[in-house]
Order: sequence, then C-alpha cells, then structure tokens
Amino acid sequence: MELCRMEKVSKIYAMGEEVRPLNNISLNIEVGDFLSVQGPSGMGKSTLLYVMSGLLKPSEGDVFIKDINIRNIPDDEITDLRKKNIGFIFQETNLFQALTVEENLRFVLAVGQGKNIDQSKIDYYIQELGLAQRRNFLPNQLSVGQRRRLVAARALINDAPLILADEPTNDLDDGWAGRVMELLTDKVQEGGAVVMVTHNSYWAEKAGKHYTMQEGSLVLC
Ligand SMILES: Nc1ncnc2c1ncn2[C@@H]1O[C@H](COP(=O)(O)OP(=O)(O)OP(=O)(O)O)[C@@H](O)[C@H]1O
Ligand SMILES: [Mg+2]
Repeated sequence: MELCRMEKVSKIYAMGEEVRPLNNISLNIEVGDFLSVQGPSGMGKSTLLYVMSGLLKPSEGDVFIKDINIRNIPDDEITDLRKKNIGFIFQETNLFQALTVEENLRFVLAVGQGKNIDQSKIDYYIQELGLAQRRNFLPNQLSVGQRRRLVAARALINDAPLILADEPTNDLDDGWAGRVMELLTDKVQEGGAVVMVTHNSYWAEKAGKHYTMQEGSLVLC
C-alpha cells in the first residue's frame, strides 16, 4: 500500500539568490519501506521531509499522501491528512516549553485521538525512551538527549503509518540511538514506513533503502 508519492517534485526558494534543494524528484513510499537519506549539510534533506509531509508546498510537481494530491485540497485538509498519516520527528525540537514530559505526550495524543486518551501509550513511550524519572520535568529541565527522545516519542505516539525522522539519533549515545532505531523498525514491521534523514553512516546503512542527496536528486546507494 502506498503512503506517499512524489512526482517530479522541485522546490525552489527564491529569496534573493535562487536555491533549488529538490530538483525533479520522484519517489514512492510504500508500507514496509525503511528509507534513509544522507547528504551534506544544506543539501535539502529537511526540505525533502517538509515537502513530503505537506508542511511545504512543492514549487513544481505533485505530492500525494495516501493517493490524495495535496495540490488540490485546502490547507486544513492537508493538516488533517498529515495528522492521520504522518508522525514527524523534527530536527529542531518542537516541544511545548510550558508542558511537562507527560503533558507534551498527552497533548499530542489528544490532538490525534480526541478525549479518550490511552494512558498506556504515554506510559509505554516514557518507559521505552528512559523518561520515567523525568515525566514531570519541563523540557528545559531535560538534557539535550532526553529532549531528543521526547521529540521521538511525540512523533511515534499517534501510530501514524508514515514516520518522517529528521536526524532522530542526534545527541544520543549508541544505546539510546539503537533504541530509537528499534522503535522505528517496529513501526515498519507493524505496517508502517519510515523515512530517516541522518548524518550517521552506521544507522543509514541499517535502512532497507539507503539514498544520498546530491544536487537536488536522490541517488540509491
Ligand atoms: N525558507 C528558506 N528560504 C530560503 N532558503 C532556504 C529556506 N530553507 C532552507 N533554505 C535553503 O535550502 C537549502 C536546503 O536546506 P535544508 O534545511 O533542507 O538542508 P539539510 O540538508 O536539511 O541540511 P542540514 O544537514 O544542515 O540539516 C539550504 O541551502 C538552505 O539555505
Ligand atoms: Mg536538515
């Protein structure tokens, strides 16, 4: 089953000097896929994930989320489509600074699933990502790596089929990076898919399909 498709997608930033981080990219993400994308800083990896998720519109070409061409639907419908289908691990942490670890997770779950919050999911990710002793701490009372793990938990907790992970192992030691990779692999095995951007060759090579980004194109390694 197809979760996301890009057809001849280009992205052009035209503020001052023109930058074209994505140049005519076509890509299919199916259930069971685990893709990794490496490439030099500033090459367009985050832009790729933003365009794939509908957070940014392509300048040329089409993006389909679950067979729906997002060019043809209003922004609020794109947001709904994204909420149901995509969990995004942002490169720069997007936590609510006034909410504790547990409240951050509860908020995301409430947005995704309404009033009937499944506390066991919150407990599962808090436990799995080693945040049990920190559940009542605010983000600025966490270490950088603990914040990174909380960002991962927020993206995973709604059971979206497609996880877009922008450098999810940054700031983590090998043990915690491995745990995050296991949770991502679980998503793939449970009938989802993952696209992971990383600078880490070791983790990149663990993915089923390993791409590098070069001059706006994706090259399969
Ligand atoms: N809003 C914007 N306006 C203009 N140019 C932008 C904008 N956002 C990104 N860019 C440019 O697009 C290019 C790609 O940026 P992007 O963040 O996708 O790179 P990246 O591969 O994720 O880099 P990194 O590995 O450092 O995270 C960069 O050269 C950047 O300067
Ligand atoms: Mg980036």
